[in-house]
Amino acid sequence: MPEARRTATITAVGKYLPERVLTNHDLEKMMDTSDEWILSRTGISQRHIVAEGEATSDMCTHAVRQILKKKGMDPSEIDCIIVATITPDMLFPSTAALVQNKLGANKAWGFDLSAACSGFLFGLDTATRFIESGQYEKIIVIGADTMSSVMDYEDRTTSILFGDGAGAVLVEASKNDNEGIIDSILRIDGNGGQYLYMPAGGSLNPATAETVANRDHYLKQDGRNVYKYAVKGMADITAELAERNNLSSDDITLFIPHQANKRIIDASAQRLGLREDQVLSNIRNYGNTTAGTIPLGIADAVEEKRLRPGDNVLLAAFGAGFTWGSMYIKWGHVI
Ligand code: UT7
Repeated sequence: MPEARRTATITAVGKYLPERVLTNHDLEKMMDTSDEWILSRTGISQRHIVAEGEATSDMCTHAVRQILKKKGMDPSEIDCIIVATITPDMLFPSTAALVQNKLGANKAWGFDLSAACSGFLFGLDTATRFIESGQYEKIIVIGADTMSSVMDYEDRTTSILFGDGAGAVLVEASKNDNEGIIDSILRIDGNGGQYLYMPAGGSLNPATAETVANRDHYLKQDGRNVYKYAVKGMADITAELAERNNLSSDDITLFIPHQANKRIIDASAQRLGLREDQVLSNIRNYGNTTAGTIPLGIADAVEEKRLRPGDNVLLAAFGAGFTWGSMYIKWGHVI
């Protein structure tokens, strides 16, 4: 008998949300908006915001510690740490290095990955290839963003959408043919860069008194255009992935999409022919945590016992770049 193929599988998940909660009613006191507008246009009711002095690496470290505790694992067993984020603690050193140090993961290497809302998917796909190659056994993939650090709370259309949070997964090898990360499609199109970006703070526009005065260190978004591309991008790529894996809508146990707007989630699910109970949505409580949304969705699905071994799970993301993608996972034993 030929030896079973070595696949990569998620074996544990952890999450962290800062203690402080910013509700729609809190926002009503800060800007000209209403709970009714935010909830009906986005499905968001509240979001979590870091405490002063708390940064992305802190949220990542909390999420990974949950995994280590659940698995009874020593940090020295981690081979690699991939941190998907667009809000690193600093431009360098990488947040992965800061997390490695905070965890005491003394045999790990790692790096940050910048792909905005698709960052976790890109990182999980990279970890999958690393595991399949046979070179590594235990890889931590984290999606984390401190979006409050780049929010302009004078821009009511954008600032109401985002929150802070982190989710992490442990990826290990499996020889069970009936579980693992089976397939993915990932895309990038720089033509979409103009619709969602942060103008200053990089090598093109380094920080000056003028960039600060112009509010150029905040995220800028053309919401309507991003909305349009997001629905089409997520639905089309997920349909393509489902089709090439012979999955009908009934075969899909759970669709875990990026959480940018409840209307985008619903429209994508509708185009895929999915019922509400087949779709994970936690945007009401967290808002859009960028790279955090998908691992937080996975963590909530595990917490709520919505998944069993052998279930078909589809992940999908769309974000700045544009970047987007979809991934098919045959669910294993995830704690
Ligand atoms: O993860 C990254 C990817 N990002 C996304 O996927 C975001 C995609 N875009 C969206 O989710 C939506 O476009 C938004 C939620 C950002 C905006 O919703 P919209 O339905 O496209 O609203 P709009 O920008 O067309 O604005 C409609 C109206 C405007 O008023 P007028 O011009 O019709 O009088 C806005 O000024 O709503 C007004 N408005 C608000 N009113 C109360 C905009 N923001 C607010 C607000 N509160 N916070």
